[in-house]
Amino acid sequence: MSLRSLALLLLSIVTIPLPAVEIVAHRGASYDAPENTMAATRLAWQQQADAVETDIYLGKDGKIIVFHDKTAKRTGGGRDVPIADLTQAEARTLDAGSWKAPQFKGEKVPLLEEQIQSIPAGKRLLVEIKVGPEIVPELKRVLAAAGGTARNITVISFNYDSLVAVRQQLPELKTLWLVSHPAPNAKKAPTAKPPPSVAEMIRAAKAAKLTGLDLQYTWPLTAADVKAIRDAGLELHVWTVNDVAVAKHWRDLGVASITTDRPGWLREQLRP
Ligand code: G3P
Ligand code: CA
Repeated sequence: MSLRSLALLLLSIVTIPLPAVEIVAHRGASYDAPENTMAATRLAWQQQADAVETDIYLGKDGKIIVFHDKTAKRTGGGRDVPIADLTQAEARTLDAGSWKAPQFKGEKVPLLEEQIQSIPAGKRLLVEIKVGPEIVPELKRVLAAAGGTARNITVISFNYDSLVAVRQQLPELKTLWLVSHPAPNAKKAPTAKPPPSVAEMIRAAKAAKLTGLDLQYTWPLTAADVKAIRDAGLELHVWTVNDVAVAKHWRDLGVASITTDRPGWLREQLRP
């Protein structure tokens, strides 16, 4: 055996494999079941997702409503009513399943408590706050009542102030800041704010003592950016990836988790 082959062999033996990337089910297993329902949540656990992501608003009665869009139109039975104008009980009368497929007719808007209680041992729920810091006291109450703890809950949000409030009121929880980035050929709205730089994101995340960043897959991050994020002591996660090449790109950059609508399928695609 040549010296070079021996060196390569030794290198392959001592190379420490990266930890497997975690798979987060975006709004549950939302490719196969209606997003943000118990059907999608349960299916995500069946598909061995490491975590389920879910979206929350505050209803007009001050209770939490699990929903993605600002209104019920697309996934709540067609009525164009703002979610914030509903009570939790009213939201629970919506049909959150029929829009996806007839077999999901009557699927309800879940309670956050139900989602928390469904979390299998060792798995977690990523709770995305879709509103401002006013929701945090109610979130704290619901987590305490339903067994949501640092072990099984991470809070994520685009709203930096909401994450700051979580740090103050629920300091034990992990917090990830969601930041979008326009696709390279996307048409820019004249009013669109440019995304922050990586250095600005790191500074802001550190200032609020956040756990890390959860970035849109369109971010043109380099290995040096990833190192800077890591060196700052921040975690790095990515959303929402339903394309194998894109998932492999982010896995190879070393993200901790990939959020996808297809958790079972994507894990299969990433299997070595
Ligand atoms: O996981 C982050 C992702 O859910 C953010 O975007 O619009 O799907 O809530 P959106
Ligand atoms: Ca979300």
